Parts: sequence; C-alpha cells; structure tokens
Amino acid sequence: MSDDSRPSPSGARTAAVIPAAGRGVRLGPGAPKALRALNGTPMLIHAVRAMAASRAVSLVVVVAPPDGAAEVKVLLDSHALPERTDFLVVPGGDSRQESVRLGLDALPPGIDIVLVHDAARPLVPVDTVDAVIEAVRDGAPAVVPALPLADTVKQVEPAGVPGEPEPVVATPERALLRAVQTPQGFDRETLVRAHETVTDNVTDDASMVEQLGLRVVVVPGHEEAFKVTRPLDLVLAEAVLARRRLNDGF
Ligand code: CTP
Ligand code: MG
Repeated sequence: MSDDSRPSPSGARTAAVIPAAGRGVRLGPGAPKALRALNGTPMLIHAVRAMAASRAVSLVVVVAPPDGAAEVKVLLDSHALPERTDFLVVPGGDSRQESVRLGLDALPPGIDIVLVHDAARPLVPVDTVDAVIEAVRDGAPAVVPALPLADTVKQVEPAGVPGEPEPVVATPERALLRAVQTPQGFDRETLVRAHETVTDNVTDDASMVEQLGLRVVVVPGHEEAFKVTRPLDLVLAEAVLARRRLNDGF
C-alpha cells in the first residue's frame, strides 16, 4: 500500500536509482535494452513509472547509456509522469555496479533511503516497491524482494567449451533458495559505504552489503517483477501489459 507521506512519518525521504545503461546483449541486436518498446512505450518509462507510482518515492535517478543521457532526458520529458516526483538523468558506466555508483553520486542531501531498480524489470507492482521501503523504514539496512524457485538448481564445474557436458558438483536444497529481484532497498549510508568498500564484481547490490557483514532481509517478491533478459521475456512482458489493460478497462 502507498502511504501519502513525503517525507514519511519517520522523516525518511526515499529516492530510486534505475540502472538503465546496459546494452541488452542477451536480448539480441537492437537499441539498448532499456529503450526497447513494450506495447509502444520504452521499457525504461515503464520502470520509471513503477518507481514513481510509490508516493514514498520523491526522486528517481535514471542512469542512462553512457552516450544516451540526452536521449533519455527527451524521453522522460515526452511521457506523462507524476508531478510530485523529481527526475534526474546521469550517464552510466561499463558495469552495472559502476552505473549504480554513478547514480548514487547524483543523490542530493536529505535522501535517507535508496531503492536500486533494474530498468529491465519494468512491470514490478507498486505494492512490492512499498513493501521494500517499509522494511527499510522498519530498520533493515538492506532489503531484497525475492521468490521461491520453480526449478531445481545444480552447481556444476563449468565446461570451458559451450555445449560440452558439465559435471554436477552439488544440488542445493531448493526450499532454502530464493531468486532475487529489484527494487532492492537500502539505508543510503550503508549502500554508499558498500559501494566504496567492495570491489568484487557482483550481480546485485545487496550482496555488497552482505560482504560488509550487515543483515540483509528478503521480503516477498512478485512474479511480474521478472527481468526482461531474453527475447521470450518481451513476449511475456507484453502479455502482462495486455492483461492489465483488460483488467483496468482501458
Ligand atoms: N546496467 C547498467 N549498466 C551496465 C550494465 C547493466 O546500468 N553497464 C543495467 C541494465 O540496463 C539493466 C540492469 O543493469 O537495467 C540489469 O542488467 P541486465 O539485465 O544484465 O541488463 P544488460 O546488462 O543490459 O543485459 P545483458 O547482460 O544481456 O547485456
Ligand atoms: Mg548484464
């Protein structure tokens, strides 16, 4: 549920950083992934709207492809977005981690809670966004939305050559595993410190906070918060949007 507080009763102000600087190699040739259209609207605009839909989010920082900041500014200006939300665009870097750091560098003073949300997860529902913010407000320094796995997972010894059989090393107990999504939510100071301290290459922000030895908690994610990664995901995303249109009656 959205609450109407900006700043919140605790005085905390929340910003969302959206890394959108990736190419989308796994999606195949075309425009940078975040700029590809879903039912006629760029994926990035869907993601920005998903963050701005939370009344707790007062600022959205978009981290654009390194040479695409001007284009992204034009996109934001030409799509309807909530009046109550401020928007900033900064150019990104070579890795997701670097892009997120560049977004964090652009945050003004007075922001206490930061969400980091993949542009590639354009359809996350606002209730999931609000649940993450709520858990940070309740005192967790890092919060990740996640879902139980459908598939059993095997740990393997990766073959050097693609397509070669790979020996299985272990089968982690599926019930103990979660597939993590975004937005991930953080106490701002904690996330900034994690980005200053951890230099290993990581695929999510919460694992940097784990490396600081701090408590990271999982809250329920949502199946519509899936990441658009491969061509089939575009089909699924457009089907979800079509279903929403039907349900919303427009
Ligand atoms: N990202 C970013 N800067 C990078 C790389 C990735 O801001 N240098 C962002 C992507 O734009 C995306 C999010 O991080 O919103 C998650 O990354 P992923 O889904 O892997 O997107 P890409 O890196 O673009 O896709 P691929 O790995 O298939 O190239
Ligand atoms: Mg990537």
